[in-house]
Amino acid sequence: MTIKKVCCLGAGYVGGPTCSIMAYKCPDIQVIVVDKSKQRIDEWNSDVLPIYEPGLDEVVKQCRGKNLHFSTEIETAIKEADLIFISVNTPTKTFGYGKGKAADLKYVELAARDIVETVESGFKIVVEKSTVPVKAAESISTILHSKQKAGVEFQVLSNPEFLAEGSAITDLLHAERVLIGGEQSPKGKLAIGALSWIYQHWIPEEKILTMDTWSSELSKLAANAFLAQRISSINALTPLCEETGADVSEVAKAIGKDSRIGSKFLQASVGFGGSCFQKDILNLVYICESLGLQEVAAYWNSVIVINDYQKRRFSLRIVHRLFNTVTDKRISILGFAFKKNTGDTRESAAIHLSKHLMDENAKLAIYDPKVDKQQILDDLSHPYISEDPSRVARLVTIHQSAYEAGQGSHALVICTEWDEFVKLDFRRMYEIMEKPAFVFDGRKILDHEALISIGFEVETIGKRFNQSANRLDDF
Ligand code: NAD
Ligand code: UDX
Repeated sequence: MTIKKVCCLGAGYVGGPTCSIMAYKCPDIQVIVVDKSKQRIDEWNSDVLPIYEPGLDEVVKQCRGKNLHFSTEIETAIKEADLIFISVNTPTKTFGYGKGKAADLKYVELAARDIVETVESGFKIVVEKSTVPVKAAESISTILHSKQKAGVEFQVLSNPEFLAEGSAITDLLHAERVLIGGEQSPKGKLAIGALSWIYQHWIPEEKILTMDTWSSELSKLAANAFLAQRISSINALTPLCEETGADVSEVAKAIGKDSRIGSKFLQASVGFGGSCFQKDILNLVYICESLGLQEVAAYWNSVIVINDYQKRRFSLRIVHRLFNTVTDKRISILGFAFKKNTGDTRESAAIHLSKHLMDENAKLAIYDPKVDKQQILDDLSHPYISEDPSRVARLVTIHQSAYEAGQGSHALVICTEWDEFVKLDFRRMYEIMEKPAFVFDGRKILDHEALISIGFEVETIGKRFNQSANRLDDF
């Protein structure tokens, strides 16, 4: 079976870049990305794309209007497509059963219902690209087969996405593996072959793994759980390092040289953020609990427990070092995105840190090179963060540069590892700050010896500079 037209429901961080690369690498396929949000589609059709991702602009400019289209005409796109990706959001439920843990599958179900209502004829391959609980494909399939229309046939595949934000284009172009799960029947294998053929335009065949649907769905949750578990493992060593005088970077280097452990994802930090890790682990925990696997649930949940502890520990450290009071003190938050090279702030450690400092009535001067002012204000005004939104207006200012934010500050807090923060002129920064001037390096990216020689008081994750500074008895 040859695929001529592909449609993707959801023009977000996954749907947009994935389809752009597909169009770029498959000139023989027409790719249309649709979304319910008119604003998002308008942005995809404009000069300022709705997401910042290195290399994305060039790819979109090259293909848009040729074989890559962004539209709100969902019905037409579904009708005409041979293959339909579902790449909609699957956030953690905020209500009812599974509140705070289970994935909210509302958008996936609505997408499936849109498809079944719209399709009038033909064999359609529906691909679950969103990250979902195990067996979600079964629910999608049940919905798709709930209306028996003559001449209509569906096959559902699982094709989870492994791109990381900030490196999405490279990750998509040079994927270490593509995973396709499907029914092990002749029709299922036909569908797997058709999707595999698309990827083979640029991914070597041996990197395309095919398997049953449920293994594919679980592999996605497992991959994110393993990655996050590594970060929590290294972060769990940071208080030990601070107490004993060891340096967590040296420990990471030493253990990472063991090829069985490997060196990646061992960067200690103020805590992992992003829209995926916490959500997907909570989802895994919920599935385990639902199946009565309490010990397994507790094991994976501990990854989140350590991450929360790490965020809380760092903000307490700031308060503690600033003489146990930050009320009315200006503190510069450098970086608000959950990692560098993205403007995405979902679950960013900076949000939680800012909340703790606002709870102490600190005045926050925030700067991030890629996050919009309104996004920062919205994040901090969210009811989970600020019960009283007027508090944000009173305590928070947003700035155009690190120096503007640093002016008159008692402390700089590095929350995101942006390269430009490493290159700052810290002598200039020191001059414009209150004294004693503190640096809290939550990403362990700065030259701490150089900062100390300028006159800064320095604190970082997993390394002790000040003998008396580290014992925190109150958390
Ligand atoms: P997102 O919120 O950026 O985008 C989802 C889009 O889907 C939104 O624009 C929304 O308006 C749209 N949408 C919802 N229902 C729709 C419908 N019925 N028809 C058309 N559009 C609809 O989300 P995202 O970050 O792109 O994530 C999408 C999925 O991919 C999630 O399941 C996520 O867990 C998974 N994922 C995300 C990443 C990542 O780095 N962000 C990586 C791998 C997997
Ligand atoms: C993650 C997975 O990497 C990706 O495969 C999946 O498809 C989606 O979820 P993403 O969340 O975009 O990608 O970014 P990632 O690079 O994994 O970073 C997540 C968080 O962990 C960030 O806050 C990052 O700063 C933090 N991190 C990462 C660390 O604190 N230490 C590390 O060593 C690596």
